[in-house]
Amino acid sequence: ARKPFFGGNWKCNGTQESVDKLVKILNDAKDVDGSKIDVVVAPTLIHLAKVHESLRKDFHVSAQNFVAESGAYTGEVSVSMLKDIGLHYAIVGHSERRSLYHETDEVAAHKVKVAVDAGLTAIACIGETLQEREENKTNEVTTRQLQAYANVIKDWDKVVIAYEPVWAIGTGKVATPQQAQQVHADLREWLRKNVSEEVADKVRILYGGSVKGDNAEVLIKEKDIDGFLVGGASLTADFIKILKSGL
Ligand code: 13P
Repeated sequence: ARKPFFGGNWKCNGTQESVDKLVKILNDAKDVDGSKIDVVVAPTLIHLAKVHESLRKDFHVSAQNFVAESGAYTGEVSVSMLKDIGLHYAIVGHSERRSLYHETDEVAAHKVKVAVDAGLTAIACIGETLQEREENKTNEVTTRQLQAYANVIKDWDKVVIAYEPVWAIGTGKVATPQQAQQVHADLREWLRKNVSEEVADKVRILYGGSVKGDNAEVLIKEKDIDGFLVGGASLTADFIKILKSGL
């Protein structure tokens, strides 16, 4: 059985005060056991070190983005800096990075390679737009994105896939359990054919897009949904309810 994985992507949100409050909510959730489920939160760069220091040790901290190397990259943070403060996770290829910062499949894949080579676990995101879904291109788009990652991944133990349909992100329009399960099953089948049986069986595939405390339970019942990557609801105590769906 695959260990459930729950990511909280805080995106560009938070103040010192709100971040402290959120860490307290997580630290106080005594009935959530980080040895039974993987819990990983991704604060902004400016809050990373603070959260890494103050968060309970059975939960983990992730970067939202990074560049491959240190040097003349104004405004960026490098993978070695993430390692240096003791982080083990990084989100890669989020649809907001793709749409707002023009990250291509190749850029995202290179980041996965760099993260995994550095010993981090990459939370590698994929997902179709509404237009692509309406044109029946969901499978084509998500497997193209997955292929780009697969081309560079050697150690699949260091990769979690996050399927986040763009039309469901921040819209309140959650995919139905059937819609999400169908894509997850197709992705796993693709891994079976194109990577290996073993990888298909062990890689966690998360769903992301308007996950809330009151829809998490039905989604996680689906066979190929191994957890969530949560945006808005990860900024509130509702995240604890989502975590409990995996216990
Ligand atoms: P929402 O949960 O706010 O829809 O965001 C999902 C997401 O983009 C997580 O990475």
